[in-house]
Amino acid sequence: MQVSAMERTIAELTAPAKGILAADESSGTIEKRLRSVGVQSTEAVRRNYRELLFTAPELNLYVSGVILYEETLRQSSEAGTPFPQLLAAQGIVPGIKVDKGTQALANFPGDKFTQGLDGLTDRLAGYKELGARFAKWRAVFTIGDGIPSHRAIAVNADGLARYAAICQEFGIVPIVEPEVLMDGSHDIARCAEVTEAVLERVFHALHNHRVALEYMLLKPNMVLPGADCPIQATPEQIAAATLRCFRRTVPVAVPGICFLSGGQSDEAATANLNAMNVCTGAKPWQLSFSYGRALQAPALKAWHGEAANKMASQQILLKRARLNSLARQGKYSASMEVA
Ligand code: 13P
Repeated sequence: MQVSAMERTIAELTAPAKGILAADESSGTIEKRLRSVGVQSTEAVRRNYRELLFTAPELNLYVSGVILYEETLRQSSEAGTPFPQLLAAQGIVPGIKVDKGTQALANFPGDKFTQGLDGLTDRLAGYKELGARFAKWRAVFTIGDGIPSHRAIAVNADGLARYAAICQEFGIVPIVEPEVLMDGSHDIARCAEVTEAVLERVFHALHNHRVALEYMLLKPNMVLPGADCPIQATPEQIAAATLRCFRRTVPVAVPGICFLSGGQSDEAATANLNAMNVCTGAKPWQLSFSYGRALQAPALKAWHGEAANKMASQQILLKRARLNSLARQGKYSASMEVA
C-alpha cells in the first residue's frame, strides 16, 4: 500500500476551508443537465462546459479536488492542456468516478446495485497514468415500502469495500459514497434509520476487506426528510440528526466526511453544511462538501451554452464555492446570499 501518496492526497483534499467539486456526471446525466438549460450534449459542448468550471479564477481558494468522468479525464482545454494537468497546476487534485452506474437488483424490486468491479484494476492503472489521485464509487438506496432490503444494503456495502481496497492498492484515495436518496415522502426519522443501517454495514464491509480507514473519505447523504414529506426540517435539526447518525457509525479514524448535495437546493445545501459545522458535540472528522448540483446548477443556468456568458457563469460558481467554503468553517449566514 502506497501510504505516503495517500497521506498527501488526504491532506490536500481535506485542506482547511476547502471542499470538492463533483463534475463527474456520466454521459447520460450531463445530457439531462444540459438539456434542462436548452443545450444539446455533444463532446465539444461538454468539454467547453467543463473548461468553464475548471478555469474559474481562484477556484483553488475554495476547491481542493475535482471529480472527473472518464471522458473528461481524457479531454484537454482549448489551449491543449489535459484537464488533469490544468487542475494540478492550480493545486487542485484530479479524481475520477470509477463505478459504472446502477442496475436493478434481481429478486428485490425497487433495489439497485452498483456495477463496475470487473476490470477495475486495469482501469485504475490507466486513470492513475492520466493523473487521477483519488476515485469515487456511488451506491444508491431508495427509501420506500420495504426498501432498501438488507440484501441490497449488504451487496452495495461489499461493492464499496471491494472498490476501496483496490484503490488503496494503487495509492489512490477512495471516496466511499453510499447515497440514501431524498426522493419520497418519508420523514427525517426514517432517513436516519436507513442511513444508520447503511453506514453500519458499509463500515463493517470496509473492515472485512481490510481497507485502511485513515486513507479514505466518506461521501454520504445528510439525514433529511423526504422531498415530499409534509414536515420539513431546519438546518439545526438536520445537523443534529446527521451528526447523531455519524457518531454511531463512522469511526474516528476516517479523516473526512464530504457531503453530496443530492438534489437539495444550492442554498439549503450550504445552510445545512454550515449548521453541521457550528453544531456542538463530538465531530472528530472534517465536515466538508463534495457537491455536484449545489455548486453547478446556478452556474449552468447562467451559462446556457453561450460563450458570452462564460465569465458571469464562473462568478456564480465562485460565489457558491466561496459560500460553501465559509459553511465548511461554520462562518456562513443566509444574509451573505444577497451580498
Ligand atoms: P450531487 O451533489 O449533485 O448529489 O452530486 C454529487 C455526486 O457526486 C453524486 O454522485
